[in-house]
Amino acid sequence: MAPVSTEAMLGRLLLAALLAASLVAAVDRNNFKTCEQSAFCRRHRDMPEGASKYTVRSNIETSDTGITFTILNTETNVELAASFEAFEGATGRLRIREKAPIRARYEVQDVVNPHLVHVSSTIGQQTEDGFVVNFGECAMAVTYQPFRIDFLRKEAVVISLNSRGLFNFEHYRERQEGDEEGMWEEDFKTHKDTKPYGPSSLAIDVSFPGVANVYGIPEHADDLSLKPTRGSGADRQPYRLYNLDVFEYELEESMALYGSRATGIDRQRPLLQIATRSIPYMVGHKAGQTSGFLFLNPSEMWVDVKKTETSAVNAFANRVKSMFTGSSNEEVPQTDSHWIAESGIMDFFVFLGPSPKEVFHQYATVTGFSPLPPLFSLAYHQCRWNYNDQEDVRFVTTQMDEHDIPFDVIWLDIEHTDGKRYMTWDQAKFPEPEAMQKFVASTGRRMVNIVDPHIKRAGGYHLHENAQKLDYYIKDRDNKAYDGWCWPGSSSWLDFLNPEIRSWWADMINPEHYKGTTLDMYFWNDMNEPSVFNGPEVTMHKDAKHFGGWEHRDVHNIYGMWQQASTAEGIKRRSGGSERPFVLSRAFFAGSQRYGAIWTGDNTAGWDHLAASLPMVMSIGVAGLPFAGADMGGFFGNPDAELLVRWYQAGAHQPFMRAHAHIDTKRREPYLLEEAERGFVRDAVRSRYQLLPYVYTEFYLAEQTGTPVMRTVCDHHASTGLDLDKPHFYPPIVPRPLWVDFPADDKVFAEQEEHLLGSSMLIAPVLEAGHTTKRVYFPANSVWYDMQTWERFAGGRQVTVMAPLDKIPVYQRAGSIIPKRMRVRRSSRLMAHDPFTLYIAVDPATQSASGQLYLDDTHTFSYTASKQFLLRNFELRGQGQTYTFSSRAAPESGSFETPAWVERLVIVGLENVATISEEGRNVEFSKKGATLVVKKPWVNSVADDFTLTITLA
Ligand code: GLC
Repeated sequence: MAPVSTEAMLGRLLLAALLAASLVAAVDRNNFKTCEQSAFCRRHRDMPEGASKYTVRSNIETSDTGITFTILNTETNVELAASFEAFEGATGRLRIREKAPIRARYEVQDVVNPHLVHVSSTIGQQTEDGFVVNFGECAMAVTYQPFRIDFLRKEAVVISLNSRGLFNFEHYRERQEGDEEGMWEEDFKTHKDTKPYGPSSLAIDVSFPGVANVYGIPEHADDLSLKPTRGSGADRQPYRLYNLDVFEYELEESMALYGSRATGIDRQRPLLQIATRSIPYMVGHKAGQTSGFLFLNPSEMWVDVKKTETSAVNAFANRVKSMFTGSSNEEVPQTDSHWIAESGIMDFFVFLGPSPKEVFHQYATVTGFSPLPPLFSLAYHQCRWNYNDQEDVRFVTTQMDEHDIPFDVIWLDIEHTDGKRYMTWDQAKFPEPEAMQKFVASTGRRMVNIVDPHIKRAGGYHLHENAQKLDYYIKDRDNKAYDGWCWPGSSSWLDFLNPEIRSWWADMINPEHYKGTTLDMYFWNDMNEPSVFNGPEVTMHKDAKHFGGWEHRDVHNIYGMWQQASTAEGIKRRSGGSERPFVLSRAFFAGSQRYGAIWTGDNTAGWDHLAASLPMVMSIGVAGLPFAGADMGGFFGNPDAELLVRWYQAGAHQPFMRAHAHIDTKRREPYLLEEAERGFVRDAVRSRYQLLPYVYTEFYLAEQTGTPVMRTVCDHHASTGLDLDKPHFYPPIVPRPLWVDFPADDKVFAEQEEHLLGSSMLIAPVLEAGHTTKRVYFPANSVWYDMQTWERFAGGRQVTVMAPLDKIPVYQRAGSIIPKRMRVRRSSRLMAHDPFTLYIAVDPATQSASGQLYLDDTHTFSYTASKQFLLRNFELRGQGQTYTFSSRAAPESGSFETPAWVERLVIVGLENVATISEEGRNVEFSKKGATLVVKKPWVNSVADDFTLTITLA
């Protein structure tokens, strides 16, 4: 390591002081509000069930796009305009706005796919009790008194709104006598929130009849199946959706609150119900019916979850008897949720499935699919706060190579800048940034630099001077550039809500402006909640003002997404539109999946945080964002070797695989481990590299279910290109909970200690210290093979498997074919021409297996622009004593020249093979343990079709 200069030392000290200040602020829970401390949350949460005072006026109107009707507040006589539209794929959108507001309300821009296809919605039954709108096999039933709305599929209620009578819409008003405290201004700690427009909040209760498990509303360090916050003994804070910079090592204090991992996360009192980023989307699931509810609104939100036993279906049918018949008297579980938002409009989407995969597809059709990332970004990322200087970057790269540990990207955190001026370099530490990137690129790798949204208010700093001149900063309540405290000290924030500023920022990414960068440099947007060290709850004042005159209150949760979107656009632009972007963001919202990857923020080097990473990444996936991961090893603290090994084993099977660590932690690059553990980490990383063809294919398939994706700020208005005749049921979710693929096996509904990676792999990492066994549940009606020993496991059973420190319990599903590249090199770029091995796991029941392989140039858009890609379908089918294996181009395949070929087939589940031949030529094979290994089945390119005939003895 290079000696540390006096200047650098001073910088460190300053930073340590700053950090200490921010840590003190963050670690104290009192710095974050409870619902009782938030006036709008308190007002709604205190409302007794049934208190809602609304009814519907029977002035229903139909138009080409949908139905409108009026909701009346019977106390104030204020009218609300409701409009309903139905879309292809069991999707409904209900918007409720003030009919004659004294001030406009914020409505989310540019998230919803503008090319959604309407389906006709027609008024069905209409009685004095209400009316029914039919769309496809679904319906919306509106009851006038008491007001409620039910969404049905095939006459069964799937989602009910206001069945608990908590609907409430605070219209904009003048100050009145008797207004409650907190309506027109509110203090929290030393901060004042002036509320010049007064109360404006919204609340609705949403029930999922028959459903015991609901998921989503990330991000919370909590269980996958959301725990109740109210009712049946539960008394916790509601889940809060408000993007905040909460340092998660708080969990360390609550380690005792985690029960035994073997029985699931059994925390009595999970501390982090505060979201650090927010997707206001919940999914309910029971066997036979999955559904989703999106409240598209980026203001602060609180969500209570309550579980009951009720015969809701019946209650509904009795009330609106004239509309529906047929119901059951059984008591069924029900999940009720209560959503409370601070401002904006009620913009609800319901997705009625019925299967999990359809719900994922329906949600992504509305908010966007995740585009295929460049291959390198799916490989292993080496990060730390901070690599000290350019020699350090070179040193780490060389050490990794010397120890034969592959990686694709080395990252630079805030210390690489000139005094936290983003898009500049510390000249002393990084005097030759381009040469450094060229060196990294010469090893087949890329770099990532951090670029935060706060701009140092310093004379002579180009971003600041331009932003000031162009008037690009968010304003404070007095219309001056908002001035707050972040890493650089006094800072202002670019207003990413403004499309002009997004476009300007995208241009700033160009090496012409961002000096010292090359096209091998990618970016990381952090602190974009936004984090303001001296702001209320470590974020921006809600009365700050954005483009269009909107208050920060209206747009808080969507701010960070727009920074990530414009950075991604910049990466595309600097290549003339040819290169796929990669941007990591900490903040996210519904739609962020279109712009890149996210990670779960500042976790801790503890076993509980390793375990929590699974439900967290899965919840984010359920909310439509597949490209997510956690800091491997834990950001705060120093993991011991065992924890680090286990974390790499788990992380190697999560979509975004990055090691990261706080500046005050000990260096922990994997080559620093002792020989044995170093070997285990190397094996975990190498297993990820071997799996890259499979992971990449999964991401491709996820994107293609709705291509082309609404990809970036500028081109997302392109047509979705959906082929509506084709069922696109491939779920755009890569790390998925078991219930997605096994929706009828209720034993997996709350499973969070194992997950699927794509549809062919089950991952059951060891999550507990000192454990050398793991309890693995294999879902019903499936068969699995251990991917090392090829031991076979029948589904519907829990098995305790041996899992010493070098063992990663991962399983291949019988009936699948997984493509791998077994020759691991220093980086994925260097493996581009290497041959494939196909792992064929035969399903004993159907005597068959199938799988796919996607292949392209790994980083450009030529796969969409000029169809330069291969999609290969592999299939094994048996009949009697003869099996046929074929490799064929999928009908949608383009073309792509590659020297890569299939060098080996490894078949598990076929006994007594006598001969294997390819067009009369005998092909060599041998038995290896439980597998049959076929060498050189086909010597030409993987692009060419071939067929093998396998005859049993
Ligand atoms: C934040 C980020 C962390 C980063 C640090 C310094 O805490 O979450 O990943 O290293 O800031 O930039």
